[in-house]
Amino acid sequence: MAEKKTWSQRFESALHPALARFNASINFDIELIEYDLTGSVAHAKMLAHTGVIEPSEAELLVNGLEQIRQEYRQGSFNPGIDSEDVHFAVEHRLVEIVGDVGKKLHTARSRNDQVGTDTRLYLREQIQQIRQQLIAFQTVLLDIAENNLETLIPGYTHLQRAQPLSLAHHLLAYYHMLQRDWERLGDVYKRTNISPLGCGALAGTTFPIDRHYSANLLEFDHVYQNSLDGVSDRDFAIEFLCAASLIMVHLSRFSEEIILWASEEFSFVILKDNCATGSSIMPQKKNPDVPELVRGKTGRVFGHLQAMLVIMKGLPLAYNKDLQEDKEGLFDAVNTVKGCLEAMTVLLQEGLEFRHQRLNTAVAEDFSNATDVADYLAAKGVPFREAYNLVGKVVKTSIAADKLLKDLTMEEWQHLHPAFAGDIYEAISPRQVVSARNSYGGTGFSQVKLAIAEARQQLTVSSS
Ligand code: ARG
Repeated sequence: MAEKKTWSQRFESALHPALARFNASINFDIELIEYDLTGSVAHAKMLAHTGVIEPSEAELLVNGLEQIRQEYRQGSFNPGIDSEDVHFAVEHRLVEIVGDVGKKLHTARSRNDQVGTDTRLYLREQIQQIRQQLIAFQTVLLDIAENNLETLIPGYTHLQRAQPLSLAHHLLAYYHMLQRDWERLGDVYKRTNISPLGCGALAGTTFPIDRHYSANLLEFDHVYQNSLDGVSDRDFAIEFLCAASLIMVHLSRFSEEIILWASEEFSFVILKDNCATGSSIMPQKKNPDVPELVRGKTGRVFGHLQAMLVIMKGLPLAYNKDLQEDKEGLFDAVNTVKGCLEAMTVLLQEGLEFRHQRLNTAVAEDFSNATDVADYLAAKGVPFREAYNLVGKVVKTSIAADKLLKDLTMEEWQHLHPAFAGDIYEAISPRQVVSARNSYGGTGFSQVKLAIAEARQQLTVSSS
């Protein structure tokens, strides 16, 4: 192992063991190994293509790299701390396998452009997987929405009953948030899929390399135009962490609603047994651990975004070791978002049973039809503000009399304003109140039906 000393003859002693441990990233950047191998294969092929090495040498390098891939997959390649990082680990093993020719792999390359390449290859794959997960979640949302077009649920502002809604309309709000997440990730992908390979340590290389050739092999859309920018840019990671944070905001908001809905106080939803947890002491408890965990995990993703911004803000060009700190947060954000999306999709698909009876009573036992009384008068020519004041008065007297608006007699309505007629009762029934909000994007049933159809269409396009 001592032979694995990496540094040039310039150094007379090995790094202090405590500092070697401190410096090493192998414990976490091993996550990048498959991308490192793929990047190295493309680099070796490019070196042969441009005549920097012989084709036979490239073949040896590529075969050696693929052997390392097999060893890693079989579990027999487990580099330790003495390798410092995944890049050195692979290079050392390559030399063990193919001999001295292995030492040619690092021609016209630096670990700086190498790690940038690996991270981008990793992230672009993760982005595509997360986008697929978003589509799966959206599909479940739409299925539930479709089955609940006419299920009513109280709508809130300030967490006070405001106006009743179609449950489908409520769920579609999340569909649209996730649609923006899907689109945003597509945008991040564009700026992630750019090759820094061949930027060298910072200034390019003296060898006649072809950066477009290796970029093509790796299916990058473009190459960085400036070598300094190429090796030190982490904007794509920051952008991803922003997009990931917003996904978590959306999942967390939804989680909060599910937690409320499942409470005794709301009782809008029953959590099915396979998606809820119990208490170790209170036998009656059924806890919404899944949405609580999602809400709780949101913080760490925000934290990784903040950390990455702070890492970057004072960095002079070009590579600085600070950049090694980009990985753990990024990996954790990716794993957290993927884990939360999976858990929430299962919860949504299998865990929620809406309590229709309870929802029906909920929308009928409050004053959330008050706006509709005002609208009723306004439609008959009473200026809205005047109607609004009248209805405010009747809400006050009704509360005092422990009555709901639907309990008022015709005389009481007429006393309030002569424009009231017998159709007021129908106009303020919850179903009619929802159905009447037929403006574009509103909760009226025919609008929501349209919105579901549009969303289905959109999902077909996203999935293709
Ligand atoms: N482990 C390093 C990282 O993650 C690789 C690049 C090291 N480059 C250097 N010049 N020390 O950033």
